[in-house]
Amino acid sequence: MRVFIFTLSALLLLASGAMGAVTTSCESCHSALDQRKSEPVSLWKRDIHREAGLGCHDCHGGDPQSLESAMAPSSGFVGVPNKRGSVDLCGGCHSDTGRIPDPTVATDQTIQYLSGSHGTSNKDNTPTCVTCHGSHGIIRVTDPSSPVFPTRVVSLCIQCHGKGSTDDETGPWRYLEDVHGRARVQGRNTSAPACHDCHGAHRATALTTAGTQMICGNCHTREYEYFQAGPHGESLHLTGEPSCTRCHGYHGIEATGIDEIIGRITDNCQGCHQVASSAWGLGREIDENLGGAMSFLDSLRNMSEEFRLAGVETGGMDKLNQEAHGWLVRVESAIHSVDTEWEELTGMAKVKMMASWDLARDYNLEKGIRKIILLLIALLAVSIFALLAFKLKLAERDQRRRQLLGSPEARQREQEHHRK
Ligand code: HEC
Ligand code: HEC
Ligand code: HEC
Ligand code: HEC
Ligand code: HEC
Ligand code: HEC
Ligand code: HEC
Ligand code: HEC
Ligand code: HEC
Repeated sequence: MRVFIFTLSALLLLASGAMGAVTTSCESCHSALDQRKSEPVSLWKRDIHREAGLGCHDCHGGDPQSLESAMAPSSGFVGVPNKRGSVDLCGGCHSDTGRIPDPTVATDQTIQYLSGSHGTSNKDNTPTCVTCHGSHGIIRVTDPSSPVFPTRVVSLCIQCHGKGSTDDETGPWRYLEDVHGRARVQGRNTSAPACHDCHGAHRATALTTAGTQMICGNCHTREYEYFQAGPHGESLHLTGEPSCTRCHGYHGIEATGIDEIIGRITDNCQGCHQVASSAWGLGREIDENLGGAMSFLDSLRNMSEEFRLAGVETGGMDKLNQEAHGWLVRVESAIHSVDTEWEELTGMAKVKMMASWDLARDYNLEKGIRKIILLLIALLAVSIFALLAFKLKLAERDQRRRQLLGSPEARQREQEHHRK
């Protein structure tokens, strides 16, 4: 058996050598073995490490030139690394800047991994480099078929952190149905965060409350700036409360439009501030003002729709309504400073809405004139119709008479009359 394998692989080696491909003894012999032993070779063809000029022996040791002593201990063959050993193997190279030629490829994965939840966990199923990247057929993380590619990484994490991994109401599975998960997984919007954008890929840590604001703030810069400028930002800095996640949650974050938040702002403040305190009062003031502004805007929109149906050109009014809406929407961000900025914004919206109201009066006049003109046109049309109908009737009567005169009975009667 052994002799047969050696002969076979020697032949393979010769054949591939003749075709000009550079093939090691490991590859030629293994490609002729059973599936489990040959799979590394077939996967190897697209491996980034092969592209970087490495070989099987860079991970397993041994002598890639020799057939006989390729896997001999004397050739430095180390065999298959165990779980910890594989972290040392991959990590050893990847933390060594001398061995990673491309300076734009990070070399901090090992230090991150070993200090994070995965690296410090002693659970059997804790992932290693190989769990997330594979061992053979490793490709660039920017390749769409990489298991850690932006559109695929969530299903990798959820394999272990899905429903059932925790019965907690705030468990990671809730991410899949929240504003971020839906955008990222269903909408393929890669600007929405995946698991590792919040937790880190290699460090994978559960976040501390105070730390989250930096993470959320990375993307939600406007809310972050308002938040920092107000008393909540100052308090967070001193006491660690209240953080973004205290009001929004973290897995299961909901999206809300301006229409839905009215009447709910006071509820939010009431979560931490006593009823009738000044902070609570501020919340209610925002609620009331925003509510008033939104219903004014709604009636302006309805008016514009009525004008449009009456044939009035409503472009000017629609534009002003749109602008007013733009100012009101900004309250959703400005609310984070819990100061008076919201007042300026609703003020700007009101200016636009008053201008829209003025236009509505002009439109009304136009609609009135249009009504009179329409009435006149209608009257004219009615008279023309009446005239036409009358003429039609006359013509009909005329025709009937002529028909009656020209009918066979009439002619018979006339002939009889002549005969007599
Ligand atoms: C002449 C054929 C041949 C050559 C050359 C060869 N191997 Fe193997 N290799 C085998 C066979 C057969 C087995 C299965 C042996 C066993 O199960 O004990 C094996 C097993 C392995 C294993 C798994 C060991 C384990 O403990 O499960 C690794 C890893 C391996 N080879 C790597 C290499 C590397 C690296 C080279 C080149 C430096 C190489 N092989 C060269 C035939 C070869
Ligand atoms: C980047 C490092 C790396 C390179 C390069 C590499 N391997 Fe491996 N190999 C591993 C690791 C890690 C494991 C064990 C982890 C696992 O279970 O996948 C392994 C496992 C194996 C096994 C055992 C598979 C089993 O299921 O028992 C064989 C055989 C093997 N490699 C052969 C090869 C051959 C042949 C090559 C070259 C074509 C090669 N390897 C190149 C890292 C590497
Ligand atoms: C829990 C899964 C996971 C584990 C474990 C893991 N990685 Fe990664 N790795 C990722 C993800 C996700 C990315 C993509 C990062 C990104 O897009 O920002 C990545 C990216 C990389 C990259 C590309 C450069 C970079 O940092 O973006 C390298 C190299 C890498 N990992 C090596 C390793 C090594 C070495 C280990 C073991 C010490 C390891 N990884 C462990 C998930 C993992
Ligand atoms: C002998 C050194 C060495 C070992 C061992 C090694 N790598 Fe690499 N790895 C490299 C080099 C070199 C590159 C290519 C870097 C480049 O050119 O961008 C690379 C690239 C990668 C990439 C792609 C990075 C990117 O830019 O997308 C990943 C992922 C990766 N390795 C994971 C692993 C894993 C997992 C292991 C262990 C099974 C491992 N590496 C073992 C040297 C090594
Ligand atoms: C192969 C299974 C597996 C995969 C895949 C996996 N994890 Fe984990 N994860 C674990 C285990 C096991 C722990 C440790 C739990 C413990 O020790 O209590 C853990 C811990 C964590 C923690 C810390 C939880 C805590 O309470 O401290 C975070 C955060 C985390 N993983 C995020 C991720 C992310 C993000 C990904 C995808 C890039 C991922 N995990 C992929 C198994 C996995
Ligand atoms: C928008 C940021 C964000 C995203 C996206 C996110 N998480 Fe979290 N995650 C958090 C925060 C914040 C905490 C810690 C909250 C606390 O304990 O106060 C957390 C906690 C965890 C924990 C600890 C256990 C728990 O349930 O509290 C695990 C495990 C975890 N996340 C995994 C994941 C996985 C897997 C994904 C992707 C499916 C994911 N997370 C997506 C922010 C995020
Ligand atoms: C005191 C409670 C509270 C805190 C703390 C808080 N928010 Fe908000 N946030 C709100 C309320 C109330 C709204 C408006 C209603 C809604 O959209 O849920 C809002 C809205 C948002 C919106 C939607 C804005 C829009 O224009 O649609 C984002 C994004 C947001 N917050 C991010 C953050 C970030 C990032 C932090 C931390 C820096 C943070 N929030 C802290 C209460 C809070
Ligand atoms: C990687 C960037 C990123 C990070 C980090 C991030 N978000 Fe988001 N967030 C987005 C994007 C993009 C959307 C819009 C998704 C969509 O609907 O298309 C969004 C939507 C939201 C919304 C709904 C906004 C609306 O208009 O209704 C809230 C609230 C929110 N995020 C809060 C948070 C909080 C709290 C954190 C931190 C725990 C956080 N985000 C972390 C990118 C991010
Ligand atoms: C998650 C808890 C939490 C929520 C919800 C919350 N706050 Fe606060 N707020 C605090 C903390 C903590 C402080 C700082 C300590 C203090 O002064 O009471 C604070 C301080 C303030 C202050 C400055 C001090 C004061 O009492 O006048 C104002 C104003 C304020 N909050 C307004 C609001 C408004 C408006 C809302 C609703 C949109 C709100 N807060 C929602 C926790 C919260």
